[in-house]
Amino acid sequence: MKKKISLILLIILSLGARAQESVTIKPGQVWPDTDGNHINAHGGAIIEHKGIYYWFGESRLPRGVQDKTKYGVGCYSSNDLINWKNEGLSLRVINDTASLLHPGCVIERPKVIFNSKTGKFVMWFHHELKGQGYKAAMTGVAVSDKITGPYKYIRSLRPNAGTWPQNFTEEQKKLQAKEGDLKSWSEEWKQAVRDGLFVRRDFAGGQMARDMTLYIDKDGKAYHIHSAEENMTLHFSELTDDFLDFTGRYYRVLPGESNEAPAIFYAKGKYFMFTSGTTGWKPNPGRLSVAEKLTGEWKAAGNPCRGTEEENKITFGSQSTNVLALNIKKDLFVYMGDRWTPENLSDSPHVWLPVEWEAEMPVIRWQKEWDMKRLK
Ligand code: GAL
Repeated sequence: MKKKISLILLIILSLGARAQESVTIKPGQVWPDTDGNHINAHGGAIIEHKGIYYWFGESRLPRGVQDKTKYGVGCYSSNDLINWKNEGLSLRVINDTASLLHPGCVIERPKVIFNSKTGKFVMWFHHELKGQGYKAAMTGVAVSDKITGPYKYIRSLRPNAGTWPQNFTEEQKKLQAKEGDLKSWSEEWKQAVRDGLFVRRDFAGGQMARDMTLYIDKDGKAYHIHSAEENMTLHFSELTDDFLDFTGRYYRVLPGESNEAPAIFYAKGKYFMFTSGTTGWKPNPGRLSVAEKLTGEWKAAGNPCRGTEEENKITFGSQSTNVLALNIKKDLFVYMGDRWTPENLSDSPHVWLPVEWEAEMPVIRWQKEWDMKRLK
């Protein structure tokens, strides 16, 4: 009898627990982790390792928190992409003023990739220094033997100092136009920017690196893809075999087109990239670009949003951060975006939408609530 009661109790309890578990994605709403707290991993991405998904992103300090030492890169794990367990900070600021990563600095858009040669997990992130706003425009790198961390901070830098882009012409290397000679946003200035005004300016000290992502190409080479040149041009920068440094080979992509928030995926024999324009925390019209080769040439292919005019203008109230590949053979992908709430960034909702296909091109439509199983 006792046994029967405890069995019934167990069934009731497990049903209760299951009822609490969320089974659908609700874009733009609070997304509680398994402790009931909104997932604090923004501008992030997901990698799968041994059948488990890991979500890395900016762990923003809730508004009003004075202690800036508990700041860094958040990590969550899940086996269904819906219920996420907080694994804590995988990279944390270093309480030492000698380190560039000391409390008060800004860490944005962290991404993690696995290096099968070294067996290590490598994290890169946009790094801004304490008290300098967005001036430093650096990228930081950290490494770990364990996927969840702790990641060991190696250094921050501006990439590709002293090297020219692979797709820069001999004439462009020699142009003389200087920033001060031209009126910002005049036609001459725009042409000069397309012709590498800022590449030449930053040649010696290294190129700017702000919004970023990582991508491992079919041949195993990894690329650090970042907004450079005052956010006017994307750079696709090749990483060394251990993924911990830059080789110096890099490509300018969509010069002078002001793209941020790059998210790349491969489908149907082509590379696709979602980006945004550059309007800070405010959302703007999403952009799609397509290429035959990762390093280009990339061609702009319009706005991938299929909503009302108002929704398309703001990418359904989001900015891209990653495209999650669920099954490349079946062309199953999920768009991941951030709906930034600058007044309290830790609360920023996540906007995940299924990628649909229209005339062999990826598009996204608003869904109030959708079932991840639909895609699997
Ligand atoms: C956005 C960028 C974010 C953050 C923000 C700051 O354009 O995508 O990652 O840097 O600007 O205003």
